[in-house]
Amino acid sequence: MKQYYIKTFGCQMNVYDSHRIAGILNDLGMREAASAKQADLIVFNTCHIREKATEKLFSDLGRICEIKQERALAGKDTVIGVVGCVVQAEDEQIAQRARFVDFALGPLTYHRLPEILKNLDRRHSRTIIDTEFPAESKFDFLPANQSSGACSFLAIQEGCNNFCTYCVVPYTRGIETSRPVGEVLSEARKLVAEGTLEINLLGQNVNSYHGEDENGTERDLAYLLHRLNEIDGLERIRYTTSYPADVTNDLIDCHRSIKKLMPYLHLPVQSGSDTILKAMNRRHTAAQYLDIIARLKEANPLLGFSSDFIVGFPGETDRDFEATLNLVDKVKFIQAFSFKYSRRPGTPAAEMPCQIEEKVKKERLQILQDKLFSYQLKFNRDSIGKTMPVLFENRGRHPGQLTGRTPYMQNLYAKADKSLLNKIIRVRIKDATMNALSGEITEEQQHGRNFI
Ligand code: 5AD
Ligand code: SF4
Repeated sequence: MKQYYIKTFGCQMNVYDSHRIAGILNDLGMREAASAKQADLIVFNTCHIREKATEKLFSDLGRICEIKQERALAGKDTVIGVVGCVVQAEDEQIAQRARFVDFALGPLTYHRLPEILKNLDRRHSRTIIDTEFPAESKFDFLPANQSSGACSFLAIQEGCNNFCTYCVVPYTRGIETSRPVGEVLSEARKLVAEGTLEINLLGQNVNSYHGEDENGTERDLAYLLHRLNEIDGLERIRYTTSYPADVTNDLIDCHRSIKKLMPYLHLPVQSGSDTILKAMNRRHTAAQYLDIIARLKEANPLLGFSSDFIVGFPGETDRDFEATLNLVDKVKFIQAFSFKYSRRPGTPAAEMPCQIEEKVKKERLQILQDKLFSYQLKFNRDSIGKTMPVLFENRGRHPGQLTGRTPYMQNLYAKADKSLLNKIIRVRIKDATMNALSGEITEEQQHGRNFI
């Protein structure tokens, strides 16, 4: 039996895509290898969002080339494939800089993998490239999504029409498309039947979802959340990533009425300065963002927020940066991702004047992260003494330990019997750092009684 190894870079959508690619390969009778060295097929699922991600790909590909050569000396063939957003943007560069790559597929064409593998004549051909934006939906061709344990991702929307001036996504993932309601619901039911308790709905702009229902009527994310709420056995629902200007009143209301919706929302703001938000082509101001947060909090006072930030966008002054710091002080994000602006070829911001010096970007990132981390640590420390339902997903590093997630996506570890794996258990929080909580399970729960 042939073995495959998939290395994933980037966002949760890529994690989901890799899972679907594994599904294709399993269907072809292959199985997952323990490491790249044992694999007959090595797939790199790539990210193009920032410069560093692309450079990392090429350095990792160099190492994979060595593995291919070592295996060749032992008389073993290795097929190397690159998929994902870097392919969409830099297919020629891959073909030139890494000639040993056998095939390269964009994020919207990986359903063609079986055909590509069948036609692969590695001895004669150069890299096979397929970066079409196809008319068909890949979801119509992929084998059914398999549950990946108690928590599963489910892509409901892909691509983006927002064209933020710094971002490559509209060019790599294409324009926005939504999967039909019926298709999403049947995938969700299947995942739950296979043991999924938590579904994380994915999309680059997930809250602009507009899939057709069974009668051909266009429905939004709020409608879909209500339908998902009806699925017995589904305990937790999340959705990511949302665009502030597309947060509707109905969606806000879901946070009041749908108890399965976790009290944690990732809502990227990028900057707290209206000048910069405008230059970024964001369709919201800082005040509008804060208003959305206030209305969401009114719907569910327990909601915690996370966000993405970019520092050093072209033209960002000290005052603009201060406005970002002020916004952080107002929202007190419980988690956040912050990045130095990275100039991406082909995007409007790359051509803007007043690019910011690396040194300034670095300083601003440090200041912002110190602030963000302090709020994250405070939130985690404030959890000490509370009891929270935790979905245990994995075994911990130490024997007798399990790890899981709280409703707020905090990582938690606790001494717990392995029978509690893939269950939601009440845990008393004992200690906290910035990145993890530790907890204690009551005696009754340890013995499998009184589950939530
Ligand atoms: N430079 C830095 N960060 C970026 N992001 C997207 N494009 C860039 C870029 N060119 C960040 C945004 C986005 C997250 C996924 O990545 O904050 O929300
Ligand atoms: Fe990129 Fe903006 Fe679309 Fe997010 S909303 S994927 S940052 S273009």
